[in-house]
Amino acid sequence: MEVIVFPDYAKLSVYAAQMMATQIGNKATSVLGLATGGTPVQTYQELVGLHREEGLSLSEVTTFNLDEYWGLSGSHPASYRYYMWENLFRHVDVPMEQVHIPHGDAPDAMEECRRYEGLLSELGPIDLQILGIGNNGHIGFNEPGTEFGSITALIDLTPDTIAANARFFEASEDVPRQAISMGIKSIMQARQIVLLASGASKAEAVAKAVTGPVSTALPASILQLHPQCTFLLDEAAASGIDNGEGLAVKRM
Ligand code: F6R
Repeated sequence: MEVIVFPDYAKLSVYAAQMMATQIGNKATSVLGLATGGTPVQTYQELVGLHREEGLSLSEVTTFNLDEYWGLSGSHPASYRYYMWENLFRHVDVPMEQVHIPHGDAPDAMEECRRYEGLLSELGPIDLQILGIGNNGHIGFNEPGTEFGSITALIDLTPDTIAANARFFEASEDVPRQAISMGIKSIMQARQIVLLASGASKAEAVAKAVTGPVSTALPASILQLHPQCTFLLDEAAASGIDNGEGLAVKRM
């Protein structure tokens, strides 16, 4: 695992967008795994800038989003489908038929999970997976305790996650209690993984993910076992890491 620390969130975001652009430059038909939430917002803005100003084309790219709230349709402003449209897809040239996000309003959740996992097997593996990390160490919506062998599933969100995500809703009662999420096994199958974390609220989870034991108690710790995983952190998110043996931390 490689850990790169940036002075601030803006520089981290520029670097992450560059990594995505390099991937697309090397392989126009790349399959990208995408995250939502607050952290990647500026990465997507930077990517849009590269599309507009440097001619980066996403026209042959396929995308898979990690997750979607169960019970929200894509027209709900807090849905991840809406977020992706607003923050990325409407500004770039990726055809929407190459975009995949679980349907939060599918008639049957189990069937939707099977459909999504099937698409991942058919069109994958993901070349570059972007991840955020929850304060509790979740990746995707794989909360503590999730089996490492898990595939796309309907997840019960923890009170922690509901509280952390209430900022995107009018009231915390409005936060859906469940989500469809790619599983940990589905995420680990990506060829390359880039995890973004910003701010002091992530410091403890980040430190445990990079130097703690690999344990289902902290889902992101599994990333220590991935052959090509990079953590991009700002100073605050990196502040809990004890620069112990064996961990190469690069500062940019
Ligand atoms: C979102 C996702 C989540 C977030 C995580 C951090 O698609 O899968 O794991 O990445 O909850 O969210 P933010 O960036 O809002 O702190």
